[in-house]
Amino acid sequence: MITVQQLKKVYESGGESDLVLSVASLHIKEGERVAITGTSGSGKSTLLHMMSGVMEPTEGSVVVAGTELTSLRPAARDAFRLATIGYIFQDFHLLPSLTAEENVRLALPTEHLSDEQVNRAFQSVGLAHRRHAKPHELSRGQQQRVAFLRALVSEAPLILADEPTGSLDAKTARATMELLQDLCRVRGKTLVCVTHDEALAATFPRQLRMETLNDALKGGA
Ligand SMILES: Nc1ncnc2c1ncn2[C@@H]1O[C@H](COP(=O)(O)OP(=O)(O)OP(=O)(O)O)[C@@H](O)[C@H]1O
Ligand SMILES: [Mg+2]
Repeated sequence: MITVQQLKKVYESGGESDLVLSVASLHIKEGERVAITGTSGSGKSTLLHMMSGVMEPTEGSVVVAGTELTSLRPAARDAFRLATIGYIFQDFHLLPSLTAEENVRLALPTEHLSDEQVNRAFQSVGLAHRRHAKPHELSRGQQQRVAFLRALVSEAPLILADEPTGSLDAKTARATMELLQDLCRVRGKTLVCVTHDEALAATFPRQLRMETLNDALKGGA
């Protein structure tokens, strides 16, 4: 599903360039569920941004579902992302004036979900009774579950999540992370999920750890 090779990201600021990420080779198979951990600043979000094509690498290649992202022009890359990737954010990004159901339907601009399908989707996250609620009427854990559905209802085969449980308490975080993995497993989606929580990462079949480059260099690694 994802192949990354010789990937580097250099940020330029104030005339200085800072190499923040270097990945020699990474392959994630279709249907895998992978947790990415690493200290703050190690480049986890940067890697996810390059996997989703919203950020261009400085060097190297990112192939998602057989397409080299760097070969696409911006408009084609946007269309590719919409069709291929569901993205889940730490702080949900639900639209406040829309109901839970309207937020989920938003993910399908050109398709139509039947009432029955929407109902089943909401049932699968235990929120059938709350589908007409506005985000501010839902708990934080419930809001994140709505955001999961929005990312998962489309045909997109790849789900990228950046600290999806980062703003939830420990108990809710664990239940929510397990739910996300279950939803991806049942729907056959590939999941790449960033978390700083090692215990949550340990619930994934595969874990990757990113090292902060400067630390590694200082340590002589
Ligand atoms: N737009 C930018 N310009 C310059 N440097 C940046 C920019 N975005 C991120 N960085 C730097 O790149 C490094 C990696 O950032 P990134 O956000 O990918 O880390 P992270 O592992 O996701 O951290 P966290 O766990 O805190 O979210 C950091 O040192 C950060 O300061
Ligand atoms: Mg981050």
